[in-house]
Amino acid sequence: MTSWDDQVESWTVHARSAESDPFFWEINLPVVMELLPPPPCQVLDLGAGEGRLTRAMTARGYTVFSVERSLGMLRALQLAGEDGNRALLNGDACALPIKPGSVDCVVSLMVLMSIADARSAVREAARVLRGGGLAVFAVLHPLVTCGRMGDDGDLRVSDYGKCSLPAPRLVQRSVLLTYEHFHRPVGTYLTWSIDAGLTLEAVVEPVPGAEQIAAHPRFRRWEGVPNMLLWTARRRAPRP
Ligand SMILES: C[S@@+](CC[C@H](N)C(=O)[O-])C[C@H]1O[C@@H](n2cnc3c(N)ncnc32)[C@H](O)[C@@H]1O
Repeated sequence: MTSWDDQVESWTVHARSAESDPFFWEINLPVVMELLPPPPCQVLDLGAGEGRLTRAMTARGYTVFSVERSLGMLRALQLAGEDGNRALLNGDACALPIKPGSVDCVVSLMVLMSIADARSAVREAARVLRGGGLAVFAVLHPLVTCGRMGDDGDLRVSDYGKCSLPAPRLVQRSVLLTYEHFHRPVGTYLTWSIDAGLTLEAVVEPVPGAEQIAAHPRFRRWEGVPNMLLWTARRRAPRP
């Protein structure tokens, strides 16, 4: 697997630029913010990366615990400054050093498809949530992890129903990045969530609107095709 530690610099440049990653800034971030419970509450940002979501959440009044496996990413997050109520934790989403039932909300954005044992990460998210707490998960859409967007704008999908690890993709944005993503069908992620003791509340597959397509040339080929799959699920309260 490509290590995120080797891509800290290029990811940081890409992640912070609205031109390089309009999907995050224009579409995914506003959708995630709407799905979160209202502040103030504690949120665990699982796989926080260089911290763009952590910063957006602290700016809105959340108390954020940013969990990251890559020390390089955590350093980038720290260097971006202390601009809110947050704590950093070096840890693995599949084995969280956190007590059961101790957080109000877990958010994991663009992380599960990077993890071989993502089912354990979903279980861990459910374990650390308090009864009634909310998980917000977002992954690169399974149509994208098993598909290829042609220059003609047609998405060619193959082996949608099989869990697999397609070959790494080298992508030139404002920087060169290598993405290595596990492919799982939508139902696999949702079933893992239900099996972990969560009740599904929302499933969202956002697509760019007409104004966004006009403003960002990169959206043009994505008219009507979701780039991201988001779902929310609530920790079932233990029976009295
Ligand atoms: C595509 S980046 C997304 C970062 C951030 N969530 C965002 O949307 O800006 C994926 C991040 O997940 C982290 N990650 C991957 N596997 C992890 C694991 N098992 N535990 C914690 N973090 C992990 C990587 O180090 C990387 O920073």
